[in-house]
Amino acid sequence: MRFGYFDDKNREYVITTPKTPYPWINYLGSEKFFSLVSHRAGGYCFYRDARLRRLMRYRYNNVPTDVGGRYFYINDGGEVWNPSFAPTNTALDAFECRHGLGYTRITGERKGVRASLLMLVPTGHTAEVHELRIKNNTAAPKNLKVFSFIEWCLWNAYDDMTNYQRNFSTGEVEVEGGGSTLYHKTEYRERRDHFAFYHVNAKVAGFDTDRETFFGLYNDWSAPQVAGKGESSGSVASGWAPIASHGLDVALAPGEEKTFVFTLGYVENPREDKWEKPGVINKTRAHDLIQKFSQPEQVAAAMKGLADHWSNLLSNYAVESTDEKLNRTVNIWNPYQCMVTFNMSRSASYFETGIGRGMGFRDSNQDLLGFVHLVPERARERIIDIASTQFPDGSAYHQYQPLTKRGNNDVGSGFNDDPLWLIFGVAAYIRETGDYGILDEQVPYDNDPKSATTLFEHLKRSFNHVLNNLGPHGLPLIGRADWNDCLNLNCFSETPDESFQTTGNKTGRTAESVFIAGMFVGVAPDYAYLAERRGLADDAKKARAEASKMTDVVLKHGWDGEWFLRAYDFFGKKVGTKETKEAQIFIEPQGFCVMAGIGVEGGQAKKALDSVKERLDTKYGIVLNSPPYTEYHVELGEISSYPPGYKENAGIFCHNNPWIIIAETMIGRGDRAFEYWKKIAPAYLEEQSEIHRLEPYVYAQMIAGKDAVRHGEAKNSWLTGTAAWNFVAISQYLLGVRPDFDGLRIHPCLGSEIGKFTVTRKCRGAEYRIHVKNSGKSGLSGAPKLTVDGKAVSGDLVPYAKPGSTVIIDCEV
Ligand code: GLC
Ligand code: GLC
Repeated sequence: MRFGYFDDKNREYVITTPKTPYPWINYLGSEKFFSLVSHRAGGYCFYRDARLRRLMRYRYNNVPTDVGGRYFYINDGGEVWNPSFAPTNTALDAFECRHGLGYTRITGERKGVRASLLMLVPTGHTAEVHELRIKNNTAAPKNLKVFSFIEWCLWNAYDDMTNYQRNFSTGEVEVEGGGSTLYHKTEYRERRDHFAFYHVNAKVAGFDTDRETFFGLYNDWSAPQVAGKGESSGSVASGWAPIASHGLDVALAPGEEKTFVFTLGYVENPREDKWEKPGVINKTRAHDLIQKFSQPEQVAAAMKGLADHWSNLLSNYAVESTDEKLNRTVNIWNPYQCMVTFNMSRSASYFETGIGRGMGFRDSNQDLLGFVHLVPERARERIIDIASTQFPDGSAYHQYQPLTKRGNNDVGSGFNDDPLWLIFGVAAYIRETGDYGILDEQVPYDNDPKSATTLFEHLKRSFNHVLNNLGPHGLPLIGRADWNDCLNLNCFSETPDESFQTTGNKTGRTAESVFIAGMFVGVAPDYAYLAERRGLADDAKKARAEASKMTDVVLKHGWDGEWFLRAYDFFGKKVGTKETKEAQIFIEPQGFCVMAGIGVEGGQAKKALDSVKERLDTKYGIVLNSPPYTEYHVELGEISSYPPGYKENAGIFCHNNPWIIIAETMIGRGDRAFEYWKKIAPAYLEEQSEIHRLEPYVYAQMIAGKDAVRHGEAKNSWLTGTAAWNFVAISQYLLGVRPDFDGLRIHPCLGSEIGKFTVTRKCRGAEYRIHVKNSGKSGLSGAPKLTVDGKAVSGDLVPYAKPGSTVIIDCEV
């Protein structure tokens, strides 16, 4: 069942009912100011850090769901409704929500009044702009009372929901222009140099800034007394819960439409310039911001700016094929999700509260893979930030805080795959840009400027960190966990509320990871190549030798007969083997070992992937392990804490499905690879939205596995490495256009379903138009037939062309 449709021309998903199976959201802003907005106008915004600079209060896990947002209450002759349906839930005659790239437009209609609310964060500004158009489609005049509403968060989102003994006494506001601009200045009197405001470009009939006055203490969201009465109270908040609500008298002749522009802005003042006079905020900067969005024409210009911005970014990779679902995923929604995920890491979504986690070391490096072709300069900056949190021995803080860019001590280090992801990220960046100079950047360790070395030295320490931490079989030690945060082989936790990751009470050097071994072998050629380019032939040689040694170790100690083992535990027992009853096979090492090329020649790769098909594949994607754990294993950790079929315990972790997809292309099985991809790619799931439940335009982290009660149901949409990895899989391996160090590699491996397609790829300043005739027969082993500007070339590498040139490539596979 569908709850909307794709409008590809406008790059929008159009939701046609407020009653979707879950709130379907969008993100606004992609620089410093960000908003989450659901199809019912729920959500919140923040400046840079969702925990420490939150502007709007939002209530997670509430009844009903999705409480808090930008609400417009319309009182039409005593009846109160919202264009966003929520929170009054008054029946609408028409409803539509269009989520576009960086904006959302919600339209509701009741009894001949049509109200359309456009929300966006204009590029270059720290504000959410709301444009509200109200039209009278009846033959009689309408006298409407309209009330805007937002609730302020007292900045620190964690403190805001815990520290009421203080917070109920700190709230402060200022009112300007009779109520057209309402300022939130809690804690501005002391250490904060920032404030927020909500402005409307019209004379108001009244305003409110005190929540209790607006609602009435015992009323709920659907029945604010101010909206019911049709009259603002002019309340000035002092302590308790400050809000901002404008009251507007909107008289509309038959057929008339009026437009109001609201600006919800964030402003920082220099410390010495905070006050206009004692106790009164210096509002100069706020006024500047207000001036920029006081007319609908300015909003239109900002919308045009957004559209151009995205057209430009998206033109870096575009496919034209007969499959519209493929096209819209590759051309619009997957890169869009990659951008959002790159910006947010795992901090703020409808499943991540924005207060728990900072930026992950591993996560951010992976996010780069899908983002780097969009804005390489920002990827560069991110790489330096991430590397600056690395420790001198090559290990890494698992997370860092975006505002301070410091490593996060609560989680610490010891996730032994983390260092290798830095090599992945940097290699992807250099492939895209050719910017080898980044390797010479001086980058500190643990943010201590005195310790700075070149970035290349960071990579070297990353690589060597694995070699310095090998276990009894010669495989890498796992530490607290590897990619699978929930495989905690050194944390024997018996106590509720302890962290499964950080309560490592065993310090053995036995638990080893075959997954990290696969990563190591996979990333070694890149590392060796980069070393060679720096004239470090010995390092390169050593790296290659170590990779080859690790390959042998994996085939000897990491092979279970029909698939790759997952790990050795604290006691040296195998994990992911047919010798145990549960979790006999795991997806991760099958993906990463084959991607690294291990066993491709010897036949193990094919066997491993056949085992995946036989044991892990389901109707809705490939599960992480099988059979699931049915009880808690103290020696395995969090993975066995989940009921069967959920999350890391045999859920379909969409993040690692693309590893198998890529691996399948490595042995030439494009048909199977494409089929796997379609099982998890959201656009193909639109028709099953009642089962899948989450947004059909973005990937979710997890879909419940075959052993789960709710098989097929997704959770944790938006912020997940799934976005980047699937973009890599589809764009670089299935469609087969892959930037390499010395040229663009063209090697589609898509199976036979799609006969012909064209990819336009911009890279390093040149444009490549690649016309593919696809028989579906070739794997990555058989070379495609390529002509470049009419001349046949051998192999699959097209050397990079001069910036500014256009290269026409014909490819037959
Ligand atoms: C989550 C984490 C990621 C981890 C994965 C598997 O997606 O963000 O870092 O690798 O779960 O546990
Ligand atoms: C929890 C989650 C896992 C996530 C981890 C991050 O363990 O289950 O998916 O990666 O937290 O620390």
